Amino acid sequence: MSGDGSDEVARIALTHPALLKTRAFINGAWIDGERRVAVTNPATGVEIASVPDLGGDETKRAVMAADKALPAWRAHSAKERSAVLRRWFELILSHKEDLARLMTAEQGKPLAEARSEIAYAAAFIEWFSEEGKRSYGDIIPGHTRDTRIWVDRRPVGVVAAITPWNFPAAMITRKVAPALAAGCTVVLKPSELTPFSALALAALSVEAGVPDGVFNVVTGTPEAIGDILVSDPRVAKFTFTGSTAVGKLLAARCMSTVKRVSLELGGNAPFIVCADADIDAAIAGALASKFRNTGQTCVCANRFLVHDAVYDAFAEGLAERARALRVGDGLASETDQGPLIDLRAVAKVRAHVADAIQHGARVVTGGETHIAGKPYLKPTVLTNVAADALLCREETFGPIAGLVRVSSNDEAVTLANASRAGLASYLYTRDFNLAHGICEALDYGMVGLNTGLISTEVAPFGGCKESGIGREGSHYGLGEFQELRTVCARLDDGLTR
Ligand code: SIN
Repeated sequence: MSGDGSDEVARIALTHPALLKTRAFINGAWIDGERRVAVTNPATGVEIASVPDLGGDETKRAVMAADKALPAWRAHSAKERSAVLRRWFELILSHKEDLARLMTAEQGKPLAEARSEIAYAAAFIEWFSEEGKRSYGDIIPGHTRDTRIWVDRRPVGVVAAITPWNFPAAMITRKVAPALAAGCTVVLKPSELTPFSALALAALSVEAGVPDGVFNVVTGTPEAIGDILVSDPRVAKFTFTGSTAVGKLLAARCMSTVKRVSLELGGNAPFIVCADADIDAAIAGALASKFRNTGQTCVCANRFLVHDAVYDAFAEGLAERARALRVGDGLASETDQGPLIDLRAVAKVRAHVADAIQHGARVVTGGETHIAGKPYLKPTVLTNVAADALLCREETFGPIAGLVRVSSNDEAVTLANASRAGLASYLYTRDFNLAHGICEALDYGMVGLNTGLISTEVAPFGGCKESGIGREGSHYGLGEFQELRTVCARLDDGLTR
């Protein structure tokens, strides 16, 4: 290793090396900062490069740029904004391989998953380039003979977005695309662990014709930047994806200037397998939901509530499939599961496993560090997990499937709902009436019925209870960046009738 990151950069092997940006992006210019923050590859622990660690002053400059750019961008027709977004979408797809390689290097996920995340990320831009043109209002019958009421949708204004490291591209486009389509401008703070995907997206936005100041990316550690984003009165809307604890603190601070707030926070997804379930399908769904992104998604199945009648078959089948997953560096073509994001994450996941074992769980497969190195954990299946183990009470964010044995559907639903989280849930049954009943009973924003993959740009994504506020994606996602404006008109048409 040269130690200056050049070996890591060479390993990424970009076709367009200019996509690796190491400066922040404000008002159409690439800017440096006094301090820098290193970005390391979680697979190797080696620095790839660094980005500016910006502070409050630069963040205020970004907010000012977004505020200044707002009137002109808002004045564009929806069709004009749509054309710019469409070009951005096409540019992302044409640079898909480079963007995927950059993502794998900074985040660790296997290349195949990074490629599908880029397609997923681009899909939000395509979707909202279309939705923006179909943002209709209402004409409401007036309350008197001579009044008419019409309602239209206006862009909310300057949007501040904070996005996480687990989906370095898609969590950005799921917020920025609807904001831009609605006519808002954006200041984005990506995770300091994965800023390169954000900066590459910004570079492509310039090529697509997004005007200066409309999309700004401030890089660095969260405190100073976040402080401005939640308090500056020019920011009208704050949107955050991350932990519930941090989301609560940030949302509370937004209230001092009454910002609109959308939060996509943590989950604790139950995965219910009924006695009549198609077990092969349930195992395939469990594998996809649990081990996607090394278990680091907020919609990952977190607790498996499996009926006694199929418990052993499900446990054996899932363990067999988990054991077959190939663990290693995401840039290697054969890898199915990459490293965890850092050693702190490893320690947390290991603590969950230890606690489950202490509460009587049995390790069927995995349960320890993988030979590939410290940030890698073996895909793990635990049986006899107690419903009150840490693994079931908190979001684990790791490749650990903990199986709780249940003896009835009522018990499964009661356990499923015994959580303050309400993001995703999963259900496997072949009985239509039962499916309908359990879907209605589940206190969750999303239910995967006989599927372990629920994420798509066309469906609303979001949670209830402490998992968040608002919905992203789908036709509902645009409204999160719009205000309703009512005109109550008194008319005198001059006709005698
Ligand atoms: C997340 O983990 O925050 C998002 C997962 C997804 O969009 O599927």
